[in-house]
Amino acid sequence: MISVFGSKVGKEEIANVSAVLESQWMGFGKKVSEFEEKFAARRGHKHFAMVDSGSNALYMAVSLLNLPKDSEVIVPAFTWVSCAQAILLAGHKPVFCDVELDTLNVNRHTVEQAMTDKTAAIMVVHFAGKPVDLNPIIELGLPIIEDAAHAVDSTYYGQPCGGIGDVGIYSFDAVKNLTTGEGGGITTQKSELIERAKILRYCGIGKSGFEAAAASAGEKNRWWEYNIQEPFIKMLPTNIAGAIGLAQLEKIDDLQAYRKQIWDIYQAEFRDIPWIITPPDAEEYEKHSYFTYVIRVPERDKLARHLFDAGIYTTLRYHPLHLNPLYGSTATLENCEVLNEDSLSIPLHPNLTLDQVSFIIDTIKQFGD
Ligand SMILES: Cc1ncc(COP(=O)(O)O)c(C=O)c1O
Repeated sequence: MISVFGSKVGKEEIANVSAVLESQWMGFGKKVSEFEEKFAARRGHKHFAMVDSGSNALYMAVSLLNLPKDSEVIVPAFTWVSCAQAILLAGHKPVFCDVELDTLNVNRHTVEQAMTDKTAAIMVVHFAGKPVDLNPIIELGLPIIEDAAHAVDSTYYGQPCGGIGDVGIYSFDAVKNLTTGEGGGITTQKSELIERAKILRYCGIGKSGFEAAAASAGEKNRWWEYNIQEPFIKMLPTNIAGAIGLAQLEKIDDLQAYRKQIWDIYQAEFRDIPWIITPPDAEEYEKHSYFTYVIRVPERDKLARHLFDAGIYTTLRYHPLHLNPLYGSTATLENCEVLNEDSLSIPLHPNLTLDQVSFIIDTIKQFGD
């Protein structure tokens, strides 16, 4: 079966992981700090802290805003469940908003439709790595959380997605453009927020065993003592994850170029097929990350079955959250509901061969014949 998502690792990641294992320090340590520095430099972020997943980074991001309890936080319905879970877990209410049919992103209009006098923050998702048109949303004057899980290479008017709002997050899970197996990160322009994030990620203690050991080399006596700053869960990343990330950083340009190559082939092949709606390319003031290629077709379920029978796995990412009974939403979000019926992610990742890409295209075209 040809998979729909994927990351690519090789001998460089294996060598880095072996070195970590041989060092006998697998947990949080120098490889994490090294990855944090290099990732921040690549993205142009002043501050960046790695955590153990993008989902936990979202929970951290909402927590960092210190919103009054039971605040409403606007979130697109067409996103991964962690976005809404993070808001709920931090003691607030997710209020779902619609997305654009072409970009699959929120815009100022869809956000405004969900706003009430209790709205305290807005979470946006740069879907597939296509940047959200943020400037008009920033003008609304509320704190913004940017989910850049798909947007590891994306920019908006030259600024790195994730680093434009108040707090931004990344995911480095097993199928993301840059993987660390599992992993995530948080960025902000405010030094006090990143300092707090670094304290919170280790149960609110703020000093890991690694950091305590480093302190023991200095003047401090009883380096093992600490003050617990706040109650929080543990979301420390490991040296293993950091080491994988460092190898990925060396090859991310090539991985991105290959994703773009596949994207461009799909665009050229599908653009003129009347029954397929293709996704928009990046505008000249944007850089895309090509995390996933979503087409819209009238007979989506039948096409998915046709591809599955030919050995091509496709999926709908994501089932609109406002339709999930857990959240008790009564919203009608027209575009999300249309997308729920006609959108489909087809394979786009660096493990695909160009022969497989041709096979996918032929199999899709055959469906229309
Ligand atoms: C938009 C979005 N946000 C957050 C996440 C969560 O990231 P992670 O899998 O690292 O927890 C994902 C994961 O797929 C995602 O797609």
